[in-house]
Amino acid sequence: MCGIFGCVLNEGDAAPLVREGLKRLEYRGYDSVGVATVWDGKVFVKKDVGKLDEVHAKLNLDDLPGCVGIGHTRWATHGAPEQVNAHPHTDCTGEVAVVHNGIVENFVELKRMLEQKRHVFRSRCDTEVIAHLIEDELKKAGSLIEAVRRALREVKGSYAIAVVHAKHPDRIVCARLESPLVIGLSSRGMYCSSDIPSFLHLTRRAVFLQDYQVAEISLNGVRVYDLITGKEIPYEVQQLDLSEEAAEKSGYPHFMLKEIFEQPQAMKNALRTHELYYDLMAPALANAKRVFLTACGTSYHACVAASYALSELGGITAQPVIASEFINYVGPAVDEETVVLAVSQSGETADTLSAVRFARSKGATVLGVTNVMGSSLTRLSTVYIGQNSGPEIGVAATKTFTAQLTVLLRLAMKVGLRTGTLSQESYEGLSERLLAMPDYAAKVLETVDERVKLLASKYADRQSFCFLGRGISSATAMEGRLKLLEIAYIPCLAYPAGESKHGFIAVVEKGYPTVFVAPNDSTRTKIIGNIMEMKAREASVISLIEEGDREIAEFSDDYLEMPKGIPEMFTPLIYVIPLQLLAYYISVYRGYDPDKPRNLAKSVTVQ
Ligand code: AGP
Repeated sequence: MCGIFGCVLNEGDAAPLVREGLKRLEYRGYDSVGVATVWDGKVFVKKDVGKLDEVHAKLNLDDLPGCVGIGHTRWATHGAPEQVNAHPHTDCTGEVAVVHNGIVENFVELKRMLEQKRHVFRSRCDTEVIAHLIEDELKKAGSLIEAVRRALREVKGSYAIAVVHAKHPDRIVCARLESPLVIGLSSRGMYCSSDIPSFLHLTRRAVFLQDYQVAEISLNGVRVYDLITGKEIPYEVQQLDLSEEAAEKSGYPHFMLKEIFEQPQAMKNALRTHELYYDLMAPALANAKRVFLTACGTSYHACVAASYALSELGGITAQPVIASEFINYVGPAVDEETVVLAVSQSGETADTLSAVRFARSKGATVLGVTNVMGSSLTRLSTVYIGQNSGPEIGVAATKTFTAQLTVLLRLAMKVGLRTGTLSQESYEGLSERLLAMPDYAAKVLETVDERVKLLASKYADRQSFCFLGRGISSATAMEGRLKLLEIAYIPCLAYPAGESKHGFIAVVEKGYPTVFVAPNDSTRTKIIGNIMEMKAREASVISLIEEGDREIAEFSDDYLEMPKGIPEMFTPLIYVIPLQLLAYYISVYRGYDPDKPRNLAKSVTVQ
């Protein structure tokens, strides 16, 4: 997730306003920043790595001429945070400048085609291909907007872009597919942006672009066209009544709830990483003598789930190890025939980095999954995959968990192709199912939210919970526990359900809340037995079940129905969502701030 902003002013310099707009979008990304303006037949660009204030202090971003400008604050997905990869990106002539929020899935193919046409690339960022495509189309198209429209028809992926051209000093062309783009209208000028907080202090009149729409903003106003047909289309101007703070959370009361509801998009973005990264990683895992997964907290739970998927789908044994125990627990087994897959949203967790450095010292191959390009984990990994989640402001991991797991499931399937555990047909069938998971997540968010709120009010005063699941659902149970524990401060338990009679069941008494993750999968028969054990001790049974599972529903005090048709190994992606919501609403009922839980930091960079 990145932030883009542009403005066309009837007087005054654009650059300071662009910088102010970017400042209000920093919650969308902040590893590098840049501004471009148009003046006197030229495009002027300043950009660098670092947060906005740092780069401004270094380069003076306000010192750019012209009343038309665009800017970008970056959360890197392709190409590490380096000056050359920062936006805006320009074409060979330097007359086209582009800022982009999204992912060009086919940038490898497009770059190869453009290089064959003698385009010269300066960066490793996927966005740069858009600038060169526009350059190409300008030779044929009669206008800037037509060139942009035709260029974008070559692009697969997601985008919100803003484009300026040296020879068109009075306008900006912007377009949208999946990534948000909103236009602000005022007597002083016109604005385009990733989100309304960037111009809410300037105007409350807005036009929300829809997918496959391209618009031209100028002092004559805004004109919107269908990106596919090129036909001009009507638009609706909305009056915004949000406070600036509410706007930053897109109207949600907390970032955590916003990020829970961002998960369908986060999973889609996680699926946009180019295939070549998986093709580099899968052979190492398939051919390793031993494989360890290592991480902390929520990322560790993603590893636990991944270990089931790597076994079931990948045909390999990968042992999940809590990073702080890695050296003592498996250190002696680590050698040059070992592969260690480290998972870390921040890429900076000290315990995880310590495990990785140890593994490297023993000659092991280190692979990484992270959300932060340029983080220490990316530098320590032989190959890494970005999960493309954008910044996660809430301390509790939500969208980054489902994004990580989406990457890990796709990787497990790739490994299965290599080991022969999956036929090409099975792989393709499962890949189709994985692509559908964001829609399943969206459906669950729509259907269970109100019921979870009721459950939270009913159980908010309980002093403990236990989360139980079998198979891969034991990882889902562990993650549900961590959420409730870390933001509602309730000392919860989580167990593989089969383990409950080896001790935990002594805790159970009348009314004790036991949360069962009970999809209709290979573990269902046995989990029913575990539910009966708890019912016999008058526990309060809360079950997450497949819709229509009347048998478990009848044994439960409360239940939440999940959609049918979720492959067993994919269930954590969907069944975790009601558990995230349960923790969030109980935290709010208890009067806490779910975004800033006590004693916790977003990234634990000390051991
Ligand atoms: C999860 O909600 C917590 N914020 C915490 O457990 C976190 O998952 C853990 O610290 C690992 O962080 P990382 O993914 O950045 O390495």
